[in-house]
Order: sequence, then C-alpha cells, then structure tokens
Amino acid sequence: MEIDVFTLFPPAFAWFEGQRHVANAIAAGARLEYVDYRDHTPLRSGQVDDTPFGGGAGMVLRVDVVEAAMRARYGRDPVELASERRVIALTPGGRVLDDALVDELAAEPALTLLCGRYEGFDERVLEHMVSDRLSIGRYVLAGGELAAMVVCDAVLRKLPGALGHEGSVVEESFSAALGGAPEYPHYTRPAEHRGWRVPDVLLSGHHARIREWRLEQSRMRGDAETE
Ligand SMILES: C[S@@+](CC[C@H](N)C(=O)[O-])C[C@H]1O[C@@H](n2cnc3c(N)ncnc32)[C@H](O)[C@@H]1O
Repeated sequence: MEIDVFTLFPPAFAWFEGQRHVANAIAAGARLEYVDYRDHTPLRSGQVDDTPFGGGAGMVLRVDVVEAAMRARYGRDPVELASERRVIALTPGGRVLDDALVDELAAEPALTLLCGRYEGFDERVLEHMVSDRLSIGRYVLAGGELAAMVVCDAVLRKLPGALGHEGSVVEESFSAALGGAPEYPHYTRPAEHRGWRVPDVLLSGHHARIREWRLEQSRMRGDAETE
C-alpha cells in the first residue's frame, strides 16, 4: 500500500507516524509520503489560495496549485490519473467513511489523499482531478489533515503486520464477522470492582456459551442503534 498525502502541513503527521500500528505497517512495507502544495505552487511567494469569485468569506485552495503539485508528484495529467488510481479529496460533503469503505480502500495498491484548508478546494479540483470525495463525518474541521490521519489509521490497521493480533480486525465493530453490528463488551481483571461484577458467563470457561453470549450482545447493540 502506497499513500501520498497532499497537504500544506506535512509536519502535522509526525505524531501520527509514531503510532505503533502505523510504524508497524510501514515496517511491513506500506509507504506514507507527503507532498506540500506550497513546494510546487506556480505562484509567487508561496501563494496557494485566493479569494472566492462572487465574494464571501475565506479563501479557496486554487485548482492550478493542486494541479501543479499533482503533476510534480506523478509527472502526468491529474485528470488521467484519477481514472486509474484512487485520488481522494477530503471534504465534509463527501461519501461518509465507514468500515466497508475502509475495506475497499485497504484493498487498493495506492491511494492519494488531498487535504483541503480554508474554505476548501476550488470546485474544479473535485470535478476533474479526483476519483472520490470522502468525509469523515457530518461536521467541519479546519483542515483535511486530521481527516487524512483518520483514513490512514483505519486503512493501515487493516493491513497484515500492523496490529499485534491479526484477529483483532476480523471481528470488531461493524465487521462482516459481526454482521455489521458494534462489537460485544470486553472485561479484564479485576473480576469485581466496587461491586461491578464481570458477567458470570465470561468466567465460566465455557467457550461455546461465551461465543453465543458475545454474538448476542453484539446483535443487541446493533438493534439498539437501529431503534
Ligand atoms: C474548513 S473546511 C472547508 C469547509 C467547507 N467550506 C464546507 O463548508 O464544506 C477545510 C478543509 O478541511 C477538510 N475537512 C473539514 N471537515 C471535514 C470532514 N468532515 N471530512 C473530511 N474533510 C474535512 C477538507 O479538506 C476541507 O477542504
């Protein structure tokens, strides 16, 4: 898996890269690299944005700046690139990220994530230079960097070698193994704290019953969500 993140703030990802599962995924062969739009802007003084036509608040990330950065990275027309590679604009109004989309992205050999800032992208970026528009939820962040980290986190932890226990990603909230429902509850020692006891079935050592109880808990949580 190769991921290129286009951003105005590459240093924002330093903490993220230090996370164990991210470092593991990279050690296992994943590649995470950054392209700073500002390094490739054709405009003077590192300009990347401009005022919106029609007036209004804020600044807009320019289409020629995004194109220049993509051409510098890939050596080709981004319009053609978007038909061959997942080029994903992070934008609040996009398709909302869920586990099925994460699985889809984790199966790709390469991803490009475009982080917006200010009022967002000039619409022509979204119309002509990307294959996907992706939102991490129906709220607005100041920039696409946190959204890119969310996508990378969710995707990288699905890759072999990222987590200590490969099974962790097979059966967890929203996975096919749980029928898309949230995961069942977990408990650890002590078995009792302030009178709050761990359910007896989990202490029984009876694996079939434990399994049945967990699946039932997961189903109940799923039902509660849809009510
Ligand atoms: C302040 S936002 C722009 C919001 C835009 N004016 C709007 O109302 O939809 C700046 C950038 O942050 C990123 N961003 C903000 N919220 C996001 C979300 N929920 N999902 C994905 N990206 C988001 C996008 O890259 C966006 O271009």
